[in-house]
Amino acid sequence: MTDLTEYMKTRRSSLSLTLDPPGPDDTQLRTILHVATRVPDHGKLAPWRFELWPGPVRQKIHEDLLQLLAGLEDMPDREKQVQATRKLLHAPCVLVVISTAQAHPKIPIWEQHLSAGAACMNTLIASNSLGFEAQWLTAWYVYEDKARKILGLKDGEQIAGIIHIGTSEIAKSERPRPEIDNHFSIRES
Ligand SMILES: Cc1cc2nc3c(=O)[nH]c(=O)nc-3n(C[C@H](O)[C@H](O)[C@H](O)COP(=O)(O)O)c2cc1C
Repeated sequence: MTDLTEYMKTRRSSLSLTLDPPGPDDTQLRTILHVATRVPDHGKLAPWRFELWPGPVRQKIHEDLLQLLAGLEDMPDREKQVQATRKLLHAPCVLVVISTAQAHPKIPIWEQHLSAGAACMNTLIASNSLGFEAQWLTAWYVYEDKARKILGLKDGEQIAGIIHIGTSEIAKSERPRPEIDNHFSIRES
């Protein structure tokens, strides 16, 4: 078994609130982006972009999102959403993966989103390969139209993942995993 297989068989995310400094430096971030953009991409459209949200920017986004949240009617579990928003502030590095999928004569939008998802996964793997821990999160604001301006999204763009990256010494316990045979079959005819 290769080291890569062993890593993939045992990999886990770390909770974003356990991610402390250091995060990746500029060179390491370039490596993460290099790996993250090396994903399957039907049509070679590169239908994604990455945005680093530095701490002070996240403070402002957090503030604006809380203000928006306070004015939203019919928001269930408001306190839970406040906590989810606060997660933006903790990790030393937050890299946002944005799907820029657009209608295309040959490549369905779905496939473009899948490529952005693959970019998120590669970001996690690249982070781990450099010795960092990471977690792929979204939250209420990713799906709230009124938050799009705060998030800096252009028309048609969608956040695929907010990847929190940092350092954690906390041991990761195993979580229940799906029974493979419940998700695999061999077609008989
Ligand atoms: C698109 C997407 C969004 C997610 N958003 C959240 C989230 O908002 N909150 C959360 O606790 N986990 C979220 N997760 C789950 C975590 O990223 C991760 O699956 C979990 O921490 C354990 O995964 P592991 O098997 O990598 O350890 C999300 C996963 C995906 C794929």
